[in-house]
Amino acid sequence: MKIGFEAIDTTKIGALAVFADKDKALSTTAALIDAELDGAIGRAIIASRFRGERGEILEILAPSDNHSRILLVGIGAGDDFSERKAEELGGALVARLISSGENILNIALDKASGEGLDTAHIAARIAAGARMRAYRFDKYRTKEPDHKKPSLKAINLLCSDHAKAAELYAPMDAVIDGVYFTRDLISEPGNIIHPESYAQAIKSLSEDGVDVQLLGEAELEKIGMRALLAVGQGSDKESHVAIMRWNGLDDADAQPVCLVGKGVTFDTGGISLKPGEGMDEMKWDMGGSGIVVGTMRALARRKAKVNVVAIVGLVENMPSGNAQRPGDVVTSMSGQTIEVLNTDAEGRLVLADILWYAKENFKPKAMIDLATLTGAMIIALGTDQYAGYFASDEALAKQLYDAGERSGDLAWRMPLSDEYDRLIDSPIADMKNIGGRGAGSITAAQFLKRYTGDVPWAHIDVAGVVWSKKDTNIWEKGATGYGVRLLDRWIADNHE
Ligand code: BES
Ligand code: MN
Ligand code: ZN
Repeated sequence: MKIGFEAIDTTKIGALAVFADKDKALSTTAALIDAELDGAIGRAIIASRFRGERGEILEILAPSDNHSRILLVGIGAGDDFSERKAEELGGALVARLISSGENILNIALDKASGEGLDTAHIAARIAAGARMRAYRFDKYRTKEPDHKKPSLKAINLLCSDHAKAAELYAPMDAVIDGVYFTRDLISEPGNIIHPESYAQAIKSLSEDGVDVQLLGEAELEKIGMRALLAVGQGSDKESHVAIMRWNGLDDADAQPVCLVGKGVTFDTGGISLKPGEGMDEMKWDMGGSGIVVGTMRALARRKAKVNVVAIVGLVENMPSGNAQRPGDVVTSMSGQTIEVLNTDAEGRLVLADILWYAKENFKPKAMIDLATLTGAMIIALGTDQYAGYFASDEALAKQLYDAGERSGDLAWRMPLSDEYDRLIDSPIADMKNIGGRGAGSITAAQFLKRYTGDVPWAHIDVAGVVWSKKDTNIWEKGATGYGVRLLDRWIADNHE
């Protein structure tokens, strides 16, 4: 999708979006067009039930030679734009037009304001929402008829301060590159993205200036990542850990922040096999790592002034003659031993070793891990809304909440406590990898906490938000790209 910013010009070829508020008062440009079209917009309002509420779109087809469509967009009270509302507006227009046969969408934004935002900011956010919504994963659809394929190729934001809007949009575009990368990785099925091919895909980040180091099984064995290796030992694919470094500060030795991600490319459950129904969904069990990898692209492409180290554990959880058994005891890199009572609680085994590795090798000032860790998180918070997060540090907890509200990738804090921690004590090892029936997301987080030492740490359980079964104004159903903008915002607001 080509995104452009230009001065307002009502003669531009294509679809033209203009605005009306909840009193059905037309924006300056809408009024101008209405006059040029001998009152066509006014007549359309009367002929319809358009009320000007936020999100309403009234479509007038081919009213003039230049305009294949006029879209009258409701903005409600009008002066209460937030970043999120602006993005949803851009996304809603793209959702409406993407496969409509329309090639070009021009959006004429007269003066707009809200939440301390000026018109240029709002224009940039509308563009961002439009591009967020324009993503589609259709590479395996070879028989889609032409009339159903996406037609929309270009979106132009027309506003007075277009140079400033373009400047504000540039870093957002970089972040959306990251979101697209995350969505591509998460959308791919398990036969295409497995620990070996995934490691190679991550290497492409070096084109963006990210340093990428890959560790294979021999190296992981040597440094003692037995917990992570135990998860992958039933798979024919070689387990990998990828370490990505973005040094945006002149001082390459300045303390970094660490991002850590669960990259289980397919989770069958292992010997504690999952039921067949819906198991295909476990191709997105690498979602946490996908977010981390996409975030590295985002940070590099917008040249973020921060040092970040990202570490992802890439494994496939398969049942086989080599697979680990329920009851096995493994020794993690930290030296702590784990009784593996359920091979389907594998994500925490992977994270235990890479969290420890991050803490020991990089002494981060803060560390955040992301993982599709527990089905229980979906029970607690549902899908498509809030991710649940846990934090060992109050300041970090607040920063994450705020970054969620501002980015639209919402996150809600869950509790940690010694009482919950006791639920994973084991009679034969230092801990077991499952708690009881209750508090499944919390006992999983307590498990991770045992590998984070004194580093301010947060764990985001993204099980309910990386994949969506329904379209929204920000994504088409499938991989949502949730999390990239959350992490990017957290870093921009607290570490740059
Ligand atoms: N990857 C799953 C969690 C999951 C389930 C994510 C459904 C998204 C949708 C994880 O590895 C898992 O299987 N967790 C178990 C833990 C249990 C065995 C303690 C679960 O949630 O059932
Ligand atoms: Mn599992
Ligand atoms: Zn899993």
